[in-house]
Amino acid sequence: MPFTIAIDGPAAAGKGTISRALAQAFGFAHLDTGLLYRAVGMKGGDPVAAAQTLLPEDMARPDLRGMAAGEAASRVAALPEVRAALVAFQREFARRAVGAVLDGRDIGTVICPDAEVKIFVTASPECRAERRWKELGEGTFAEVLEQVRARDARDMGRADAPLRPAADAVILDTSDLDIAEAIAQARAIVAARLAQ
Ligand code: DC
Repeated sequence: MPFTIAIDGPAAAGKGTISRALAQAFGFAHLDTGLLYRAVGMKGGDPVAAAQTLLPEDMARPDLRGMAAGEAASRVAALPEVRAALVAFQREFARRAVGAVLDGRDIGTVICPDAEVKIFVTASPECRAERRWKELGEGTFAEVLEQVRARDARDMGRADAPLRPAADAVILDTSDLDIAEAIAQARAIVAARLAQ
């Protein structure tokens, strides 16, 4: 029976790591929806046309994880037509028979409002910038912090599907947790729901 786990939160809060760990622990499929927006942003040309014609090879580009792709993604993600073009694919993925984990910004609020589990993963901007800085090995800490803040402002301030926790989401603040603790808390939330 389909079972959807919606993981939302700001950049570098730990969503990806937690989502991959949950998918592995429960045998669910995982979709990093940020990659869709990154691929659209890096494809060039008209972003709406790029979103409407996105191909698996666009998602396999090696440069999608970098800062430039994150910036480009955050910009095209503010366009309602881009978001609309990506909805059906995400919703179909969410209903996979094996169960699905989707991580992004609007999964619990817009894409899967009926998800069985919703977790909003967050952490202070300083913690997130430090993690992202170490992971990227690019730029200075101050530059990365500024980008994290700018991206938060853009993702939370846009009119269409802004980043915010769903009313029924569990908030998981990872500022003072290491990876293992954050994963353990998320696993416990999912296990409790599966046991119902
Ligand atoms: O999670 P990420 O850093 O890969 O996301 C990159 C950008 O894509 C993010 O700044 C906002 C956008 N995004 C979105 O608007 N909705 C999603 N579901 C996922 C990402």
